[in-house]
Amino acid sequence: MRYLTFALAKGRLAKTALKMLEQQGITCEEMYTDTRKLIFVNEELKLKFFLAKASDVPTYVEYGAADIGVVGKDTILEERRNLYEVVDLGFGKCNMVVAGPESMSEQLKYNNSIRVATKYPNIAKDYFYNKKNQKVEIIKLNGSIELAPLVGLSEVIVDIVETGTTLKENGLVVLETICPLSARMVVNRVSMKMESERISKIITQLRDSLQ
Ligand code: PRP
Repeated sequence: MRYLTFALAKGRLAKTALKMLEQQGITCEEMYTDTRKLIFVNEELKLKFFLAKASDVPTYVEYGAADIGVVGKDTILEERRNLYEVVDLGFGKCNMVVAGPESMSEQLKYNNSIRVATKYPNIAKDYFYNKKNQKVEIIKLNGSIELAPLVGLSEVIVDIVETGTTLKENGLVVLETICPLSARMVVNRVSMKMESERISKIITQLRDSLQ
């Protein structure tokens, strides 16, 4: 039996993802040891796990370096990788939104000369260019997106809102909601065929546990 490899997105989703997998018997004691190792192995079950930057998880899965990934829908939409999205894991729920100062709400409806800062340029382009038919300017940032309208880099932002605290504390509001998000399980296309029995079993178990 060959190893099945899981790539888990580092950060806020990782802990819940591990817990959910453990409940299905997909365990890895080694992950809890204090180590600088990057790959963790469960020899008995022939499983391997690694944590990767969220935006890299779909890449590892598309190329087959991981058979299975757990990553947010935001990253899946942004990275547009060729893979199967198989289970909505139901945690990490939040929304992708357009946010900014309340005063932008009218301009945002019709104006094309708006600057939009975001960590998600593909999602922003798809929303403004294809869905809203608005030729806004999109500026890519890598974090602390809420800063952009505060310092005059952009009028609005496209970003994730979970509790809404970051927006509120910075005097910003949700102006438009783009889509709901949550953690998803993704599978490499070849692995799905080659390891169909083991992977289907995991998918079924997870789906049943979520009912
Ligand atoms: C995310 C997102 C918002 C914040 C939203 O940032 O980009 O800034 O969380 O959460 P809230 O609605 O609960 O306040 P993250 O913490 O991932 O870091 P980043 O700013 O580096 O993107």
